[in-house]
Amino acid sequence: MSFCFNFDLPAQTTTHDEEDGNKQENGKKDNDAECTEDSNKTARPVKEAKKHLPPSDPHFLLMNVVFETVTIGTLPPLHFLNETVFERTAPEREDKEKILSHSAEQKSDLISGLYEGGLKVWECTYDLLELIEKDGETFRGKAVLDLGCGAGLLGILALKRGARQVYFQDYNGTVIEQLTVPNVLLNLQEDDEVDSDNDQKGKDEGKIQVKEDRKKDEKKDGSPLPKKSAMDLSQHPLLKKCRFFSGDWRTFHPLVLKVDSQPKFDIILTSETIYNTEYYPALHETLHKLLAPDGLVYLATKSHYFGVGGGLHLFETFVEQRGIFSLDHLWDGEDGLQRHVVELHFKKPKDT
Ligand SMILES: C[S@@+](CC[C@H](N)C(=O)[O-])C[C@H]1O[C@@H](n2cnc3c(N)ncnc32)[C@H](O)[C@@H]1O
Repeated sequence: MSFCFNFDLPAQTTTHDEEDGNKQENGKKDNDAECTEDSNKTARPVKEAKKHLPPSDPHFLLMNVVFETVTIGTLPPLHFLNETVFERTAPEREDKEKILSHSAEQKSDLISGLYEGGLKVWECTYDLLELIEKDGETFRGKAVLDLGCGAGLLGILALKRGARQVYFQDYNGTVIEQLTVPNVLLNLQEDDEVDSDNDQKGKDEGKIQVKEDRKKDEKKDGSPLPKKSAMDLSQHPLLKKCRFFSGDWRTFHPLVLKVDSQPKFDIILTSETIYNTEYYPALHETLHKLLAPDGLVYLATKSHYFGVGGGLHLFETFVEQRGIFSLDHLWDGEDGLQRHVVELHFKKPKDT
């Protein structure tokens, strides 16, 4: 899997007065962090947050899809649409935001403000899945947010492990509709329909295994399989626990707070979302507003995002200056592997 950053769009300028950055919590000034200063000099249009409803007949979304299955130790297998096939079929897909065409034309996995990278599964997602496997987080009965979900593997895991509610958020509506929702549906299907020959996978504890497969909608003689299971997906009890949102973090958390009376999450999972320092105020505000008082944020990230500028050190500095969260390292990649998983939780009086 190759990753590239290609920020061709010119920077625009306004301020983010309504964001976390200007609340001056704990008496901090906004310009006391390099990244905050940058964010207030730069403006970008706001992509309004929006709620997406899963289709009433989800079957067509899963017709003859080619998917991959990742299995990590004792975690339930996670299915997701194959990236290469997804790219190849992009011209046939509805793409109102034009992210499929732009990302193909520009050969870029990130186009700031237009496409924020959700069509790929980024490698830190796997680090976080491995950590969850080792730590034994079960998600049972918890309200979980997969923030910047892309393919949605983290939220899907929480759903399969018994979360009471899972919210999926991505910047791009196209990602939510064409990738996240189909992936959730794919995982709701009976194991014997999508996973018949995968019985031995994942038995080697801790090992990541990815296998390609094809969902069969036809019998060997070419006649269609009965559609019962796929048709029933719209009524699947696990689907009823899911909510899907697109849009900018600046308008996402106000929308969630409007839609739900008590939208506090016990766990927020977020992978590869701190690459752009300009987004830190909105990201921090989102975590601040949506995390339950005793909640935990699991953040998986690279040390540095070349060509974009963000990274863990800058984010840690930002968080420290805000004075709201404590940040602990849960896993640091060994030499040469510049990746990390960290945890954030609200500062307790003794931490301050
Ligand atoms: C590089 S992708 C990572 C996707 C996925 N978490 C993974 O690890 O495979 C970054 C994600 O963060 C979200 N994101 C980034 N900046 C955002 C912003 N300013 N507002 C809302 N979402 C944003 C994007 O939607 C995108 O899904």
